Amino acid sequence: MAIDANRTDLTVGVIGTGAMGRGIVQVAAAGGMKVLMMDSRPGAAQEARDFIEKMLTRAAEKGGMSKDDAAAAVQRISIVASLSEFKPCHVVIEAIVENLEAKRQLFGELEDIVTPDCILATNTSSLSVTTIAAKLKTPRRFAGFHFFNPVPLMRLVEVIDGLQTGNWVSEALMVIGRRMTREPVRLTDAPGFLVNQVGRGFTLEAAHLVSEGVATFVDVDRVLRDVGGFRMGPFELMELTGLDVTQPASELIYNQFFQEPRYRPNLIMRSRYEAGVLGRKTKRGFYEYDAEMKPIVPAEPAAPAARPESVWVSPAESQGYATLVQLLKKIGARLEIAAKPSAKALILVTPVGDDATSCAVEQGLDPKRTIAVDTLFPMAKRRTLMGTPVTDRAWRDAAHGLLASDGVPVTVCRDSPGFIAQRIVAMIVNIGCSIAQSRTAQPADIDQAVTLGLNYPNGPFKFGDVLGAERVYKVLSAMYRIYGDPRYRPNIWLTRRAKLGVSLLTPEP
Ligand code: NAI
Repeated sequence: MAIDANRTDLTVGVIGTGAMGRGIVQVAAAGGMKVLMMDSRPGAAQEARDFIEKMLTRAAEKGGMSKDDAAAAVQRISIVASLSEFKPCHVVIEAIVENLEAKRQLFGELEDIVTPDCILATNTSSLSVTTIAAKLKTPRRFAGFHFFNPVPLMRLVEVIDGLQTGNWVSEALMVIGRRMTREPVRLTDAPGFLVNQVGRGFTLEAAHLVSEGVATFVDVDRVLRDVGGFRMGPFELMELTGLDVTQPASELIYNQFFQEPRYRPNLIMRSRYEAGVLGRKTKRGFYEYDAEMKPIVPAEPAAPAARPESVWVSPAESQGYATLVQLLKKIGARLEIAAKPSAKALILVTPVGDDATSCAVEQGLDPKRTIAVDTLFPMAKRRTLMGTPVTDRAWRDAAHGLLASDGVPVTVCRDSPGFIAQRIVAMIVNIGCSIAQSRTAQPADIDQAVTLGLNYPNGPFKFGDVLGAERVYKVLSAMYRIYGDPRYRPNIWLTRRAKLGVSLLTPEP
């Protein structure tokens, strides 16, 4: 029954030769497979073939492959005019319009044409693999094969087992993915599959904290870049992708998970989507753009000249205390070492998860002089501060001036459990853990998929282990407690490993 995915004459069919289909054709042909391709729009397949030829020629010119290999790859591509010509295929990959009925109709026709052991695969990004397969006569040979845009540059491909997918089908797709020089990751069907679920942690939590008034979108982008190590902030990313893509995908994932609060969409995205203020493609999104399409970014607020006479750091969080004291000594602050702050001291707290208000109230500190500093993330490129709602401006300015006195920029946000970076990264870790707990994918595969597909500096498990599972658990627990919102409840995978003091990668037998 099973096909030999390593056979040298393996023939791949690709239906739909738009942005995705043409990329899949290119990597399949470059990987040594014969490819048949078709598009319902007259001339579209020829345009795609010309485009692929140009891409492969360019790759040869840049030394990515030899001229002969590029020419041979182009020779392996044939255009076909009807579905009946897909009969010789060992696998057919669909990359047509994102519409359930159109896909079901296509596969319904196709399964009567191809041989019984031909694999049928969909590149859908948002529809359920199980649902597309449901009406097929042989749903066992059907799977998801989810590539990322632009295909030749994005090495990840998600191999998705639908409810009825046969093991041999996904195993063969893993082999075929590698032959296409991709890095395939296997998972079971779930809304948003793997990468698009994790991506919600980054964008949606950012939107939630901005809509709560904690920080501006510019602040969030700065903090995630400088503190979190992300190449782009969440709003910069949404500008590039476009809210016409991000917003419907977010609502779909939320609703497919039966309104799971962890994926709750946010109005600031929805209203921009409704208004057609989508990002770069509409020349206006969260950011505005100049004539050269450079985003207009407000200048960094100047650091105040004010300095405190002395500083007292709360020892409540021992690690944060040590980190902050070391920094304060380096920048020449006058530290008070008594058990209680004197009447003239700036009071600094270093919460993991808690907001500044809870710290001040629970530790019996003067909330007018209390400022919280995020010490969970590196402080070399930027520092994040927040006061309580009653912290005096003069004390806030003194803290800002002091912590910026070595030239490192400071972001001051409003009081919030988890500041900015703690909140967003904790959500990414929590979603990663929920994917592992539900057996959608293995922890190491989740990290691999996220770093390849989303370009994050770490996958959720590495992030969690670097920060410490126990501390990520603390951040989420504090958010859950302070907001009373089930959106922030720590996933049981994270909870157990935090309590046991073991790596988040620890599997369960
Ligand atoms: P596209 O609009 O660029 O290309 C779709 C192509 O399919 C068009 O050339 C169209 O003429 C053709 N087509 C439509 N119905 C057809 C049919 N019944 N038979 C044959 N050809 C047909 O779309 P794109 O972006 O390439 O997306 C294709 C699929 O890939 C969708 O399912 C999408 O969700 C998925 N996807 C898209 C990603 C992206 O970033 N654009 C990423 C991952 C998956």
